[in-house]
Amino acid sequence: MFETFYNLSRIPFSRDIPTQELYKSVILEEILGRLQYAAERRWFAVITGDCGTGKTTTIRCYAEVLNPAKFKVLYISDSRLTPSHF
Ligand SMILES: Nc1ncnc2c1ncn2[C@@H]1O[C@H](COP(=O)(O)OP(=O)(O)O)[C@@H](O)[C@H]1O
Ligand SMILES: [Mg+2]
Repeated sequence: MFETFYNLSRIPFSRDIPTQELYKSVILEEILGRLQYAAERRWFAVITGDCGTGKTTTIRCYAEVLNPAKFKVLYISDSRLTPSHF
């Protein structure tokens, strides 16, 4: 209903926005560059931020540009992980 009111072509802020349609802010480009820098050096990198600021979306965006021949993306869903688990 609000989609019509605001003349939107679809529901905004969904989790499945195609990455090529994301807003490429300066900050997003900066984070993607830093993730690339860390990945090339096999470093750990941490993304922090308030809820809904785009952390997951940024990682999803980055995972898509990673060369699958060189990198493997793993999603570990365990909030009790400690550094020694790695
Ligand atoms: N660069 C972006 N362009 C457009 N929408 C975005 C962008 N980053 C995030 N969003 C929108 O914001 C919502 C919340 O982002 P999300 O990555 O889930 O935040 P977080 O993981 O930090 O809680 C996403 O579902 C998406 O719709
Ligand atoms: Mg998230």
